[in-house]
Amino acid sequence: MNADGRTRLNQMPEWTALAKHREELGDVQMRELFAADSGRGTAYTLRVGDLYVDYSKHLVTDDTLRLLRELATATDVLGLRDAMFRGEKINTTENRAVLHTALRAPRDAVIEVDGENVVPGVHAVLDKMADFAERVRSGAWTGHTGKRIRNVVNVGIGGSDLGPAMAYEVLRAFTDRDLTVRFVSNVDGADLHEALRDLDPAQTLFVIASKTFTTIETVTNATSARGWLLDALGDEAAVAKHFVALSTNAQKVAEFGIDTANMFEFWDWVGGRYSYDSAIGLTLMIAIGPDNFREMLDGFRIVDEHFRTAPAESNVPLLLGLLGIWYGNFHDAQSHAVLPYSHYLSKFTAYLQQLDMESNGKYVGRDGHEVEWQTGPVVWGTPGTNGQHAYYQLIHQGTKLIPADFIGFARPVAELSDALKAQHDLLMANFFAQTQALAFGKTPEEVRAEGVPEELVPHKTFKGNHPTTTILAPELTPSVLGQLVALYEHKVFVQGAVWNIDSFDQWGVELGKVLAKRVEPALTEGAEVEGLDASTKALVATYRELRGR
Ligand code: F6P
Repeated sequence: MNADGRTRLNQMPEWTALAKHREELGDVQMRELFAADSGRGTAYTLRVGDLYVDYSKHLVTDDTLRLLRELATATDVLGLRDAMFRGEKINTTENRAVLHTALRAPRDAVIEVDGENVVPGVHAVLDKMADFAERVRSGAWTGHTGKRIRNVVNVGIGGSDLGPAMAYEVLRAFTDRDLTVRFVSNVDGADLHEALRDLDPAQTLFVIASKTFTTIETVTNATSARGWLLDALGDEAAVAKHFVALSTNAQKVAEFGIDTANMFEFWDWVGGRYSYDSAIGLTLMIAIGPDNFREMLDGFRIVDEHFRTAPAESNVPLLLGLLGIWYGNFHDAQSHAVLPYSHYLSKFTAYLQQLDMESNGKYVGRDGHEVEWQTGPVVWGTPGTNGQHAYYQLIHQGTKLIPADFIGFARPVAELSDALKAQHDLLMANFFAQTQALAFGKTPEEVRAEGVPEELVPHKTFKGNHPTTTILAPELTPSVLGQLVALYEHKVFVQGAVWNIDSFDQWGVELGKVLAKRVEPALTEGAEVEGLDASTKALVATYRELRGR
């Protein structure tokens, strides 16, 4: 306890014990850990749902894991978890419950916020979404001129874009291939231009996704989209057949001109980056169909239940969260790579960037004081094997410690031709080879034994000892996607709980928004804007000159 009455994380005995343990381990080698325990390759594994999680290639011993769990106990991670699942207002800076888990609760579950069971509302919206999605998919819902809808354009940004856009890519093989589905997020007009340039307005449905319905990028793009539609169809009444809204803000939706009968609702206890399994998933549901969407929700639920009930020793999100703390706080790792060996997961890491970095990129704790420990890492990565030919060099032989998650699948997606399915083993051979090389490297002796000239030996030596988690699933299905996303959601939760930060607000994005609003008149009208610093002033002047104003 400090003089000010606060017990700081880095003064807790459990934290100090971990720091001491880290010193004692020194530069322990994975080669040693595996040599000392022939069962490590299977003992250090867990299963959750369809996911087989191997954490043997980490710089940890049983003692490390025990000490990490003791830290979780001391910081009451599981107490906060229970409070979240109960619907308590654990997002304290916004005084909100955090209940994305209610979005995938079964119909008969009871989860209360302010004394009201929210589950019936969740299922009412899911049913309304399913009904609408089926009508679009079957052609029963037509555009203003009576033509069938062939194109769905999702307009949203951040959590109202990244989740559905990611999941649409992941589940491409499950989508209706007769529909063209596009996602527009950037306020750069080029985004909307490219999305619309070859579409027939009479066959295009816009899904305007915005929790607040005040986000400038989305409102601007939605207004331009409406202009594009009305230029072609020439009738205000067309909006009702070509625009639907996904939002918590009925008033703003109505003000924009979308009939609230065409609004799919969600609630303030769903954070934007935790929302794609809510109404925000409508575009995805239209693409993959309600049954696949529900299967995905089942996948989320499997991991929710596991996180809620599994003992600490076998609780996968808890383990992954704690491993991140081990590297970030006790090895000074600054980043975390997520490397999926699936082309379909090409947007998965971008999605995780918001999930993780918007949640845990904070330097102020829940108690309002600055933290004195590292919080969220930089999350990055792209699908293997492409990354292998780009930045893996740095992971293997650079000077930084970069823990990484490798995600792979045993079976290729069913619709691939036999010839393309045959490539899957090559893909996965790379998957397994990389984590092996990262963990165990190649010693100078091994390099010499290959007859390498002495002057090249240091260059061809791999020190190894780079930690990785391997997540292997049988096949990429809607359920497996739900499982993976819930796994990362809860991992992020665990870390925020230990670091004592509110993982569910995002005040850090506000300042830029306010300043952009202030600067805009300087660009458009040359207005004298108060409070511009000298650098920004000169940049604005140069911009206006280059822009020809
Ligand atoms: O970037 C800030 C943010 O509020 C995100 O948290 C959110 O996902 C995104 O903007 C979009 O917000 P909205 O859904 O309200 O348009």
